[in-house]
Amino acid sequence: MVEEIKTLTLNGEMISAPASSTILEAAREHNVYIPTLCHLDGLSEVGACRLCMVEIDGNNRLQPACVTRVEENMVVKTTSPRLNKYRRMIIELLFAEGNHICSVCVVNGHCELQEIGYKVGMDHVRFDYLHQDKKVDASHDRFVLDHNRCVLCQRCVRVCDEIEAAHTWDIAGRGIDTFVITDLAMPWGASTSCTSCGKCTLVCPTGALFEKGKPVTSLSKNRDFLQYIVNAREKNEWIKK
Ligand code: SF4
Ligand code: SF4
Ligand code: FES
Repeated sequence: MVEEIKTLTLNGEMISAPASSTILEAAREHNVYIPTLCHLDGLSEVGACRLCMVEIDGNNRLQPACVTRVEENMVVKTTSPRLNKYRRMIIELLFAEGNHICSVCVVNGHCELQEIGYKVGMDHVRFDYLHQDKKVDASHDRFVLDHNRCVLCQRCVRVCDEIEAAHTWDIAGRGIDTFVITDLAMPWGASTSCTSCGKCTLVCPTGALFEKGKPVTSLSKNRDFLQYIVNAREKNEWIKK
């Protein structure tokens, strides 16, 4: 069946996109950058980080591009003073809420949060740092979870559930006391569901999840594995024919 095509305006340009596309997919298809943190190609969408907000004519509220489908005659703006201000504020709040000391981080120079910080022009944080007492779980044989660097994007939760089918990760708590947990809040090393595949460490956008023994700035995460698995699943390459 041929998919219906929608025509819309993106930053003043007329574009077309399949009706099932999100605004984010349509924008990327046309090389238009929209910052994202919780989105990762190959995982389901949760619309958690709100960094991908865009302006849509006729709608006063900003809309998340990763979960909003394209519509006929939609007029979308992905950049404006209002959007830039909003995105910068989100990044500053993430820095103020966590304890992100980039100079001693394993992913310094390869961190998605840091990169977006540069892109939105965050030269300082205007909010008071919370200096929360967050824990580090190094109980796993191979990996470490540092809550200080977690931005609650839920990529670990989704990759573990949707790709590895282990469902080791979950989110617990509310508001400022929200955090990721393994196996009903047991130490990661005591988890009986974890297969030690390491997928969660690779999709994590920051240095919150990493392999043991990695020195500062040494870790750049290769996420190509995700697309291979998703493509193979779509083509049923694992089914004996
Ligand atoms: S290492 Fe694999 S199985 Fe273990 S928590 Fe991470 S994704 Fe899940
Ligand atoms: S541990 Fe990493 S992947 Fe998991 S929610 Fe935190 S920042 Fe996201
Ligand atoms: S990327 Fe859209 S809400 Fe996070």
